[in-house]
Amino acid sequence: MAVPGSAYTGFGSFHSDNIQDLIAQSDSDYRPPTIPPDICMPEFPSYDAMMTSLLEPLEELGSGGCFGKALLDRGVFLLDRKWTFLNHGAFGATCLPALRAAEVWRRHTERQPLLSFDRVLLPHLVRIVRLVSRVIGARSCADVVLVPNATQGLWACIQTAARVLHPDDAILTLDIGYGSVKKMVKEVTKRFPVKHVEVTVPLPPVGDASSADIALQIHTTLEQALKSHGHVKLVLVDAITSNTAICLPVKRITELCHRHGAAVIVDAAHALGQIPLNVSDWGADIVVGNFHKWWCAARGAAFVYSNGDLDLDHFRVPRPEALVISHGYGHGMLSEFSWDGNRDYSAWLALDASDRFWSSLGVDRAREYCVGLLRDAATLLVKDWSTRTLVPLDMCHMMALVEVPVRDEHSTDDNQKLTSDNAKFLQDKLHYQYSIEVPVKCVDSRLWVRISAAVYNTIEDYQRLSAVIREIFPMSV
Ligand SMILES: Cc1ncc(COP(=O)(O)O)c(C=O)c1O
Repeated sequence: MAVPGSAYTGFGSFHSDNIQDLIAQSDSDYRPPTIPPDICMPEFPSYDAMMTSLLEPLEELGSGGCFGKALLDRGVFLLDRKWTFLNHGAFGATCLPALRAAEVWRRHTERQPLLSFDRVLLPHLVRIVRLVSRVIGARSCADVVLVPNATQGLWACIQTAARVLHPDDAILTLDIGYGSVKKMVKEVTKRFPVKHVEVTVPLPPVGDASSADIALQIHTTLEQALKSHGHVKLVLVDAITSNTAICLPVKRITELCHRHGAAVIVDAAHALGQIPLNVSDWGADIVVGNFHKWWCAARGAAFVYSNGDLDLDHFRVPRPEALVISHGYGHGMLSEFSWDGNRDYSAWLALDASDRFWSSLGVDRAREYCVGLLRDAATLLVKDWSTRTLVPLDMCHMMALVEVPVRDEHSTDDNQKLTSDNAKFLQDKLHYQYSIEVPVKCVDSRLWVRISAAVYNTIEDYQRLSAVIREIFPMSV
């Protein structure tokens, strides 16, 4: 507690304790602030009572392995039942406890904005950062900051790194990386005298390549690129790729890049919730991920982890600089990222609700359900359509690409070249005509659906997709 009447201990005009001091405290010394007693919905006596009423029914569902439509029946997700919703991978879907928690924090702010921003917000952000650091497996909570989304985190980190690169140094990306990240890298090559090297991962893999073969091929291609472009100082790699839904061997890639003197930024936007996350174990320099996709948090919540444990053998990415200079500037990483101006911070404050949501549902049981469902769904589609998945299913967790059996009625040509226009046409048709929300991708001149398996999906969703595709392409089956 700040001593009444003493000088401010935090940054700017905030009347709260210094958040750098709070984040640096050991777990045994740290005393979390209590949730304000007046923060809750009118019908509940306290925040905890509200959470208990939302979470208790989930414990029953989870312990009975009762996922799927039971979650929609009970309003745990607000998804409109008219849709066959197979695209959790795009923007996620927020669980009710997180929505409610964000709502009560928003109401708290509006009841007394000065009290909320000036005195309550920052200590609670520290509480949340300490909590989510454990969730993501960061060795130290001092290495973690919150950002509104992965995009902002990635742009902050890439710019920070580019500023300290030398002329002719290069940044390497894989062609299967996220589109906006490639644009970021292109842009920094205009702003700084650095080069961009892009490595191609041939997809689909040739023949009956196993996941080990594919991982080895990526490793070999990357190693060749690192050797032939001697100046690669920074590598960007996805934990799980977006368009192709492939889980990459991040730890091995990081070790390889470090051996060649390059730092690694991991884009882990799809990781938390799909895989058990342990960012420190990857050993990468920076990991950026979000909470609002597979962890079902309220929108506007993501993280940047900057590894404080690295030795200095390879190019060192500095601690990322926040995109916005504000009151916390110059006070340390957490201060710099925590306040970027007057806006809605409720998604960050509500992160404990998502954590409690997954604990109540049983995070391992839920993950097992989704991964099993993805496998069953992909196997069903491959069989019904006589096609294939893009990569072996042991490289996928809760998303996979399955080839669509496209033939038109005038042709049985297996080698027809399809384009992203065809993909858009089919995705729109599924959306408008059948109320099926699933992305259609064009890879190697073929069309593929990228299916997602979330806790609210069931095998019937994919059976419907299968039947509709067979109706659209009757010649193919
Ligand atoms: C691989 C990857 N990186 C980054 C992002 C951007 O995430 P956000 O929308 O949280 O900024 C996405 C979004 O889908 C993604 O798939």
